[in-house]
Amino acid sequence: MNIKDEITKRTDEINGIIETFLPKEEGYQKTVLEAMNYSVHAGGKRIRPMLMLETYRLFGGSEKVIEPFMAAMEMIHTYSLVHDDLPAMDNDMLRRGKPTTHAVYGEAMGILCGDALLNYAYETATLAFDKTNDVDVLAHKIPKAMKVLTTKAGIYGMVGGQTADVEAEKMGLSLDEDKLRFIIDEKTGALIESSMMIGGILAGASEEDILRIEKIANNVGVAFQIQDDILDVIGDEAILGKPIGSDERNEKPTYVVLHGLDASKEKVKSLTEEAVDILKGFEGDTSFLEEFLMYLVYREK
Ligand code: IPE
Ligand code: IPE
Ligand code: MG
Ligand code: MG
Ligand code: MG
Repeated sequence: MNIKDEITKRTDEINGIIETFLPKEEGYQKTVLEAMNYSVHAGGKRIRPMLMLETYRLFGGSEKVIEPFMAAMEMIHTYSLVHDDLPAMDNDMLRRGKPTTHAVYGEAMGILCGDALLNYAYETATLAFDKTNDVDVLAHKIPKAMKVLTTKAGIYGMVGGQTADVEAEKMGLSLDEDKLRFIIDEKTGALIESSMMIGGILAGASEEDILRIEKIANNVGVAFQIQDDILDVIGDEAILGKPIGSDERNEKPTYVVLHGLDASKEKVKSLTEEAVDILKGFEGDTSFLEEFLMYLVYREK
């Protein structure tokens, strides 16, 4: 398998799906709709919808009911980035290789664009009810997926993590290990857990398997954030598509600050290897997912 080709193939497929759910740029609220589409179209690796779709397929899913959830997840993730870049938060001017949303549309529109993407994500997820006639999916699987989608994005998920992340600024080495892990688990782990769990839930995976999926996804999410922190130090802005040195400028005590580069790289690898080991225990074809997770360990963007 050529993993790069396989990733490109899937990214194209996912972009096609997301496109069908984006709003038309019309009406008196046109500006916010343009800002939404700008931030989503700017690019992005689409790893969350990719992990969702692959997990769905792993458990035998093959229906269109997954598609609104894939688009919703990318909208939530994109909103988190638009707000993360705002002057009051990380104050960054480059995202996905383009000027950040607030840099193009102004701060007020940046805030509204995030609000709009989050809300529209939920409107989009409810379209899953129109994609199936299966009573069990309608009555149980979609509501269960909605619960995970909403919870992991909120105060007991990504928003919770971002809150602790903002408050950790300037704490330096006095940030304790527990709180650092909370930040990483929630600000980044939560949406990746949500993505993979929703794939499993909609395909009808057992409770036990969903818990294993959550564990795999947590490892992947934590490894992903530590690699992000590494790239903030040693990455190449032109490849990364966002500024390097943002964490240092904001005096953020990241995993790299607390443990150093070498231990951080080792941690990314060991967390991923553990995730791959658990993944191997499933019956279906996990070959793409395994290679994809290992590919993320050495990613440069
Ligand atoms: C960036 O996420 C924010 C983190 C959680 C580290 P991605 O690296 O997935 O960003 P895009 O979607 O590819 O731009
Ligand atoms: C962001 O973490 C996680 C989010 C929930 C957006 P970072 O602040 O490190 O993400 P980047 O580096 O700006 O993409
Ligand atoms: Mg941030
Ligand atoms: Mg940031
Ligand atoms: Mg970062």
